[in-house]
Amino acid sequence: MKGVILAGGLGSRLRPLTLVTNKHLLPVYDQPMIYYPVKCLVNAGITDIIVVTGGEHAGDFLKLLKNGKHLGVRHLEYAYQEGEGGIADALKLAEEFADGEKVCVVLGDNIIEKNIRRAAGDFFTQRSGAKLLLKEVPDPQRFGVAKFKDDKPGGPIAEFIEKPQNPPSNLAVIGIYFYDFDVFEICKTLKPSGRGELEITDVNNAYLQRGDLTYDILDGWWTDAGTFDSLIRAANLVTEGGANRVDPDPARKPARQGATA
Ligand code: G1P
Repeated sequence: MKGVILAGGLGSRLRPLTLVTNKHLLPVYDQPMIYYPVKCLVNAGITDIIVVTGGEHAGDFLKLLKNGKHLGVRHLEYAYQEGEGGIADALKLAEEFADGEKVCVVLGDNIIEKNIRRAAGDFFTQRSGAKLLLKEVPDPQRFGVAKFKDDKPGGPIAEFIEKPQNPPSNLAVIGIYFYDFDVFEICKTLKPSGRGELEITDVNNAYLQRGDLTYDILDGWWTDAGTFDSLIRAANLVTEGGANRVDPDPARKPARQGATA
């Protein structure tokens, strides 16, 4: 299984910070945001990775990540997205890299506490389809949300709704997705949403309609980091420990002490 990190976009919710750099290069506590999704994949044993990015600062990813060896990546590739077509549009650029294999797609601003190794293993043995990770959140309006059949959270899913005004549950679809190679065909059939983007939620609904989608509830904390509030929350959660991150310099003070000193 190959890893795809989506790190494009304008980062408009983080302006002016993103006027001079890409969102995924901003710091989350002591490390660049992009380190966390890289480590999330590496810690799950997925070390063949492509980073999809775009915009004026795309070259800075190469300066930072280089060939990825210092982060435990075995093989690192880059793809350049022209314009802003949405998550599913960016994913299309990974088709050649995936080369018939399953993929684990991680949004570059998603950070989790624990490991996705078990979910990755389960998906490896899943014959086909998709696997998603859901997490209870206090603000489901901000995310793709699962609507459950008979309103029974944890049971079969009826559909996914992107940023619902009246959320049908508080279980958000986190930005770590497992797909078989069919995802690239599905992406080609999508039509832009109201906000002019190819939505990953439409991809997930396509798998649901095929009856070929499984999900787990994520263990441990999860956050995105694409707004000022979530960026500071991400940094605070990271200082509490547990995140998938590069081991800090052992000579340095522990995070908590360092944060308050
Ligand atoms: C995106 C997806 C959404 C998902 C979220 C996870 O939202 O569209 O379905 O729940 O990532 O972080 P965005 O960050 O683009 O608002």
